[in-house]
Amino acid sequence: MEQTIYRGLDGVHIDTTTISQIDGQRGELVYRGYDIRELADKASFEEVAYLLWHDDLPNRAQLDAFHRELAANFPVPEPVFEALRNVPAGAHPMHAIRSAVSLLGALDPEAEGVDSHNVHRIGLKLLAQFATFTAAYARIRDGKAPVAPDPELSVAGNFLYMLNGERPTPAATRVMDVALVLHAEHGSNASAFVARATASTLTDVYSAISAAVGALKGPLHGGANVGVMQALEQIGSVEGIEPYVVDTLGKPNGRVMGFGHRVYKVMDPRAIILKDVAHHLAEESGDSKWFEMSLEMERVMDREMDKKGKQVKPNVDFFSASVYRMLGLPRDMYTPIFAVSRISGWMAHLYEQYANNRIMRPRLVYEGPVGRTFKAIEQR
Ligand code: ACO
Repeated sequence: MEQTIYRGLDGVHIDTTTISQIDGQRGELVYRGYDIRELADKASFEEVAYLLWHDDLPNRAQLDAFHRELAANFPVPEPVFEALRNVPAGAHPMHAIRSAVSLLGALDPEAEGVDSHNVHRIGLKLLAQFATFTAAYARIRDGKAPVAPDPELSVAGNFLYMLNGERPTPAATRVMDVALVLHAEHGSNASAFVARATASTLTDVYSAISAAVGALKGPLHGGANVGVMQALEQIGSVEGIEPYVVDTLGKPNGRVMGFGHRVYKVMDPRAIILKDVAHHLAEESGDSKWFEMSLEMERVMDREMDKKGKQVKPNVDFFSASVYRMLGLPRDMYTPIFAVSRISGWMAHLYEQYANNRIMRPRLVYEGPVGRTFKAIEQR
């Protein structure tokens, strides 16, 4: 019988969800009914994380209680810092992040339970601690001591504080908050799918989240934001953009990082918002180099893709790279920052998956040899 093969699971719906909705033709992203543009404009990351984990936005008392629960979970156990000190210099930071998650699992005597109460307990802990151990790792690998979290600060403010050791300005905190809101959730993307597939075996939350971190690391997924900045740094000037793009597209399977998306056929709405943020930061700081290079890359990609009749537009990773650069964040921490936010979305997916589970078990169409006769090893 002829089997239909959906390479890359293109067009396959694995389940229903109430967390988020993407309209790839109209360029819309909605978290539980709220348009991402309105959330980025008006909501904090904590409000959005609460929204993703509950049916609706929190009222003031609910938000205050949520913040208190998070703040109580900000500190990370010392063995995790010890392990981070042993990560070799030059290792990809996502290996450190993934290892921190695994170790938190090993340290948790209640790691195995997948009932809703335990999953929420672990979710709160991970949401609070991703920012702490990510910022700590960025300092440790630079030979600096970690900065203890401040329970009064938001996740965004705390992250910048723990990274730099100085209180961030309200403006920098707001930019970080917007970036976290925009990266929080995106349906059945590769890492959320991997988290759900892993959880579908009824293994523990830490295992599902470490798998998701591993998936996010890839250059075709969350790793693309580092790829964007690597390319911009290598090119070095607005004039260098056009030859770089034309040359890259001329190579077999050449990809310009930060462009293209499986679902969006128009510009990713998150990229539109981050473009505005990058523009604003460039004007404020007087350092418009990265933004101008990004605009030129967008222009040349538009022209080249139009010629080929392809719909390949900037995605979330494209302008986030220059936003992070202008915030002074280290380049190799861009993907870990994505994880600091996306842990909220991954957990929302795990709540759904564990609550109504069926093991994920797709199939492959076998095309290998058949009917072979076994030969003893001496005869091969
Ligand atoms: N540069 C050049 N060409 C591209 C790009 C790109 N960035 N993206 C897609 N294309 C072209 C492909 O060459 C392909 O052309 P073809 O039909 O002639 O073979 C066509 O557009 C469709 O691309 P696919 O790879 O089939 O699309 P798919 O949905 O499988 O992949 C992906 C999506 C992985 C995001 C892809 O666009 C890509 O590699 N982009 C660069 C990496 C990137 O920015 N990833 C971040 C995505 S957002 C996120 O994960 C947070």
